[in-house]
Amino acid sequence: MPKENHTIAKSQALLNRYDDVLLRGYIPHKNIFRQADMGYPAFVQRAAGARFWDVDGNVYLDYLMGFGPIVLGYDDPAVCRAVQEQMANGTVYGLAHPRELTVAELLTEVIPGAEVVGFFIGGSAATSSAVRLSRVYTGRDRVIMCGYHGWHDWARPGDVGVPQTVGELTCAVPYGDLDALESRLKKYDNQVACVVMETIQAGGPPDGFLQGCVDLAHAHGAVCVFDETKVGFRVAMGGAGEYYGVIPDIATFGKACCNGYAGSFIAGKREILASKACQSVWMTATAHGDPLSLTAMEVVIGELQRRNGIAYQWKIGNRLIEGINAVCKAGGLSYRLIGVGPMPRPVMEDSDRDRCMEMLRGCLAQGYYLHPSHPMFLSLAHTEVDIEDTIEAVREAIGRIHR
Ligand SMILES: Cc1ncc(COP(=O)(O)O)c(C=O)c1O
Repeated sequence: MPKENHTIAKSQALLNRYDDVLLRGYIPHKNIFRQADMGYPAFVQRAAGARFWDVDGNVYLDYLMGFGPIVLGYDDPAVCRAVQEQMANGTVYGLAHPRELTVAELLTEVIPGAEVVGFFIGGSAATSSAVRLSRVYTGRDRVIMCGYHGWHDWARPGDVGVPQTVGELTCAVPYGDLDALESRLKKYDNQVACVVMETIQAGGPPDGFLQGCVDLAHAHGAVCVFDETKVGFRVAMGGAGEYYGVIPDIATFGKACCNGYAGSFIAGKREILASKACQSVWMTATAHGDPLSLTAMEVVIGELQRRNGIAYQWKIGNRLIEGINAVCKAGGLSYRLIGVGPMPRPVMEDSDRDRCMEMLRGCLAQGYYLHPSHPMFLSLAHTEVDIEDTIEAVREAIGRIHR
């Protein structure tokens, strides 16, 4: 039943203080101002399992999971225990820690095509490292990108603050369109260092698309980079590359690999990453390879394997997609979930937006945080009962739209 007094008043009050002391630009993809305008909470107090509590005291079953990092659950006991133990022994060192080697070796075992690994902080740093390494390896400067790859200059051509000369080196191509990719590669013949592809967008890759990207990049002497930041440790440990059986030259991972810690990594071919040119690139940073992220990563891999976590995400995600789509169709609403089970993407028709938003607000009032547009994420903390309850909540919310 919806909470009659669902309110985000405290979130709103905190938002009112935001611009006095905080820089808006550092949170743009979280869009909390726009979200609050739509009736969504903006400030969270705490989270546990698959749920979070906002500052107004409302509790929600979360389908955003921090925009993807939380794959085991917010307070997964195995991660918490291991990280606390590591914390007592130090959180950052001025020397290497043996865990860098053991986790790297583990990654080469569980991710197809991972021969050499490098650890970073955040997905933006991982994708930027792949671009820099590709530039050094090929001796070329141009980048063809497809999708979202973070906030660094090369990935935001045309944005305010990005020098024109830097932005001009990157061009974007549409997802799923090999002809467009080929024509760009031809246009910039012998100049393209890499093709950086966000592997799963919209409803997922058309047949043969990911292999086509690799083949076209290679035909033009470029490195093919799969950006698996959202997808890795979800559709498969090795992301879409593993799921669709395609091995890129370099793949980048972040988000779910550490269950909420900030670590990220790249993995790829020895021929490229262990080349003299690539081994000479300067990409050092104080927190790269930080022991807390590496500890979390080791536990995430172990827990996903032990609990058959990839298959579980598919199972509950597919049921969520099927169930929500069926009740929305029956209720005459255009809200749909598309894409792959572990990360369903919501879509709606513009003409039907008001009714869909009313349905989503109805779900919020019942304690279900479904997103209007961003891919959502399942976790091992979502139960099958949670999924059925969510589908029922959508049905109930649709029923109330017509009153
Ligand atoms: C596909 C992809 N690449 C890169 C990034 C950037 O990662 P981060 O926000 O951790 O810097 C994101 C973040 O959403 C992403 O989805």
